[in-house]
Amino acid sequence: MRAVRVTRFGAPEVLALADVDDPAPGAGQTLVEVDLAGVAYGDVIVRSGRYPLPLPWIPGLEVAGRVLAVGPGADETLIGKTVVGTTAGQAGGYAERAVTMGAYTFPIPDGLSPEVALTVFQAGALARGLLSAMGLRSSDTVLITAAAGRIGSLLVQQAKAVGATVIGAANTDKCCAVGAFGADHVLDYTATGWSQQVRELTDGRGADLALDAVGGEIAEQTLATIADGGRIGFYGYASGAWPTVDMNAVARRGLTVSGPLGIVIRKSDAQQRDDSMQALAAAARGELTPRIHARFPLEQAAQAHRELEQRRSVGAVILTRR
Ligand SMILES: NC(=O)c1ccc[n+]([C@@H]2O[C@H](COP(=O)([O-])OP(=O)(O)OC[C@H]3O[C@@H](n4cnc5c(N)ncnc54)[C@H](OP(=O)(O)O)[C@@H]3O)[C@@H](O)[C@H]2O)c1
Repeated sequence: MRAVRVTRFGAPEVLALADVDDPAPGAGQTLVEVDLAGVAYGDVIVRSGRYPLPLPWIPGLEVAGRVLAVGPGADETLIGKTVVGTTAGQAGGYAERAVTMGAYTFPIPDGLSPEVALTVFQAGALARGLLSAMGLRSSDTVLITAAAGRIGSLLVQQAKAVGATVIGAANTDKCCAVGAFGADHVLDYTATGWSQQVRELTDGRGADLALDAVGGEIAEQTLATIADGGRIGFYGYASGAWPTVDMNAVARRGLTVSGPLGIVIRKSDAQQRDDSMQALAAAARGELTPRIHARFPLEQAAQAHRELEQRRSVGAVILTRR
């Protein structure tokens, strides 16, 4: 089969097509003929060498397609069904066939397109888990960075669904999109003094809660916008660096600083499955509406990564088999 096989980390060009053996499903696993593969920012981080995994590496942590076979102990009724699933070892999705974890493989609900299902079953579940780990309340004003992103856009929608006031922050070109996702206020965090505007929007108090995926200086400025006694969750570092946290300020101001991603990942399989099924159901009801930024055929995986790395993407980027 054809797959994008990385033999060294580096620029997007290392995402080269190769002929490789078909994978075989092990115990509890499912073999999927891949129609669509999601491109996550985490794939970009690994590919660039910032978080190296063993080589050779086939990227791709989520796929949609038809189940061809299942391994011992996996659900045989899935054979022939169109599903979305998390790949075994969170790798192997940029390929014509991939093995998914049976526990994280879901038939696509009636009426939902494979593209939408692919875009919400992991990212929507993660957004749901992050908001719950941070104890989001309807009375909260929540600041969300990278708010036009694959996960960020779903965070905005789900925080609004809970009734919170949402301030979405993104780079200049994406501010309109953040408003369209439902944010009450939109800030351009490439503009000087943007974090001061959070104070102005909250009568000088600051945000009750912030969720940051950018890291570095943006995360440090985000921390400064939190109200005394407020909470902040760091779950990614798209800028390439985690923030330096001033623990004197955290202690003095009574802030709660959290890594909510770890809380989500440590949930039981049953709880994580439930988050995915709730995200799929919300999408089927039209309450969660992801945006697909672009689709690229497998052989243009490098271009897909450039869209993310050069900060052009709004919503999700998808690879297609053809
Ligand atoms: N399972 C998962 O997918 C998973 C798990 C754990 C953690 N995460 C983390 O969650 C975050 C969001 O993931 P995602 O897949 O939804 O990606 P994404 O938000 O669609 O893309 C990353 C966004 O980060 C922003 N960004 C800020 N500074 C950047 C820079 N210097 N270079 C590139 N981008 C920059 C960009 O938005 P602007 O242009 O608006 O700034 C970009 O759109 C990532 O940090 C990722 O590592 C994801």
